[in-house]
Amino acid sequence: MTNVLELKNLKTYFFTDEGVVKAVDDVSFNVEQGKTLGLVGESGCGKSVTAMSISRLVSPPGRIVGGEILLNGRNLVPLPDQEMRQVRGSQISMIFQEPMTALNPVLEVGFQIAEAVLAHESVSKREAWSRAVESMRAVSIPDPEKRARDYPHHLSGGMRQRIMIAMALVCSPELVIADEPTTALDVTIQAQILELLDSLRQKYNLSLILISHDLGVIAEVAETVAVMYAGKIVEMGPAMGVFHNPKHPYTQGLLQSVPRLGSSVQKKDRLDVIEGMVPNLLHLPDGCSFAPRCHKKTVECTLSTIPLEPVSERQEVRCIHA
Ligand SMILES: Nc1ncnc2c1ncn2[C@@H]1O[C@H](COP(=O)(O)OP(=O)(O)O)[C@@H](O)[C@H]1O
Ligand SMILES: [Mg+2]
Repeated sequence: MTNVLELKNLKTYFFTDEGVVKAVDDVSFNVEQGKTLGLVGESGCGKSVTAMSISRLVSPPGRIVGGEILLNGRNLVPLPDQEMRQVRGSQISMIFQEPMTALNPVLEVGFQIAEAVLAHESVSKREAWSRAVESMRAVSIPDPEKRARDYPHHLSGGMRQRIMIAMALVCSPELVIADEPTTALDVTIQAQILELLDSLRQKYNLSLILISHDLGVIAEVAETVAVMYAGKIVEMGPAMGVFHNPKHPYTQGLLQSVPRLGSSVQKKDRLDVIEGMVPNLLHLPDGCSFAPRCHKKTVECTLSTIPLEPVSERQEVRCIHA
């Protein structure tokens, strides 16, 4: 298997007045060509900062302080901004949670997608426009010639997210990072967008990083799952292993908070299930960051940093009780 992306020991810190926030602290994972890596964890655990780091969009007081981001073997960390701008959009593109903030309200959506083409390829405006329309067709927007003339507020939330996906795909990137792409949408539309992303991945052999706080979303489509907590990966492996045989107490807690399929029970707030709060990244406890909330905690957990270690051929866990 070819790895499109190899993240090696990435560290992204924020140097704030209150102190150093280690938002991404020694994170490593690989994304195989044509496959989906799911990145999951509660709000504030460092998922978006990981995504922004890969796209080199972290701004001060945040900074990548260590590690490598290898895209097809080329390290993006030292690339000059101008070269990085070429990589973004043409090789890596991002889809965010809220399309309304990413789209310009006073421009036709077709024009905005066409602009993405013009930014990366030397084609005529007319060609860029027809590429935009084709990209809208590829994401199953009905009557794309007509819809391309719409302004963002004319479209529903689901259609706007399809526009964002069309824009992300129009320059045929190899890697797409979707950061909570369905969180703002209602449940039926969520499922449609996930299905669309998965079918586009298959059709174009895309590599996808799908980020969500919702394990249910990740379970739908990811082959590999990385569970993040307080800036670190605490468990990673094939989705089958992580979901059916979770080893980290945090993963086990997250899974318990996912409602069973077909259950009529209302979705519970996951903090009901895993007691306690996500720690303040400025004041992390010694040893395991999850220890204060963990029912398996022993004194050994708090003595020194806990390494991520293999528990089976492909599953790794950061817990001495696993
Ligand atoms: N601009 C910033 N300044 C200081 N700290 C930040 C900034 N942006 C993010 N962080 C820190 O990084 C942590 C991870 O944030 P984020 O990656 O957005 O979490 P997630 O996407 O998992 O909800 C946050 O808990 C916050 O402490
Ligand atoms: Mg986020």
